[in-house]
Amino acid sequence: MKGIILAGGSATRLYPLSKAISKQIMPVYDKPMIYYPLSALMLAGIREVLVISTPRDLPMFEELLGDGSRIGMKLSYKVQLVPNGLAQAFVLGREFLNGEPGCLILGDNMFYGQHFGHMLRDAVESVQKGGACIFGYEVADPRAYGVVEFEEEQSSDLHGGKETVLKVKSLEEKPAEPKSNYAVPGLYFYDATVCEKAANLQPSARGEYEITDLNKIYLNEGTLKVKLFSRGFAWLDTGNCDSLLEAGNFIATIQNRQGFYVSCIEEIAWRNGWISTEQLAALGKEMKTAYGRYLERIAAKGF
Ligand code: G1P
Repeated sequence: MKGIILAGGSATRLYPLSKAISKQIMPVYDKPMIYYPLSALMLAGIREVLVISTPRDLPMFEELLGDGSRIGMKLSYKVQLVPNGLAQAFVLGREFLNGEPGCLILGDNMFYGQHFGHMLRDAVESVQKGGACIFGYEVADPRAYGVVEFEEEQSSDLHGGKETVLKVKSLEEKPAEPKSNYAVPGLYFYDATVCEKAANLQPSARGEYEITDLNKIYLNEGTLKVKLFSRGFAWLDTGNCDSLLEAGNFIATIQNRQGFYVSCIEEIAWRNGWISTEQLAALGKEMKTAYGRYLERIAAKGF
């Protein structure tokens, strides 16, 4: 399974902050924003990732993450010349996916919560058999998101946590009058037919190749699964200055309380067995910060 991080766009809602640099490179507390979606892919067990961004910003991501070998990954990069929709990730990423299933995560989406890794690996397994798997998350105001409406409920207990698989009635992109409070986070798993489906999409009224339209194709085919994140789970927004600050404070609160870092890509690579304890310690040594000392500390502890 391969992954794509879409880190383009002009983030005008963060101006002047984002006027000269990419939003997805900005700090969320102690690390660049893109670490968070990258870590989600890593938790899904995905080692090969394509980062898509603007011609201006792509070199910065390359400088930050390199070819990925330092964390046991294989990273590559692709320019999106025109920011004309999320579904374009599968047009630009066609060669990269090379006929295999793929996961798309948006470069500004942050997730934190128990059983996240299990849910991700279930999604991988599910689309390897065919179809698509997306998620739903209840929010107070879903108007800025894709919104999913459900028909009936079927519950099952998986991995000790309640996981609900629901039958989808409708999917709408940024509806003025949402039919439910379930927003669709920017994390999508698709089978091997995704590139072909994306290539046949037509632009929406706002001129974009919508990810919601891609999901609707799977819905109409009867192969779309939507899994719900529970209320104890955090899907954080970084769309404006307030939500960006809140996300940073959230991460700081968890990290300082527990002593464990959130979305620490070096730690995840190590726990996944992609780098050795010695490599982890060496990565820590390079950074004269609390982040570096954390890597050295967990390497010394060995678990
Ligand atoms: C995009 C998608 C939307 C989704 C959201 C999640 O919106 O179009 O369906 O709910 O990401 O972050 P955008 O962030 O491009 O406004």
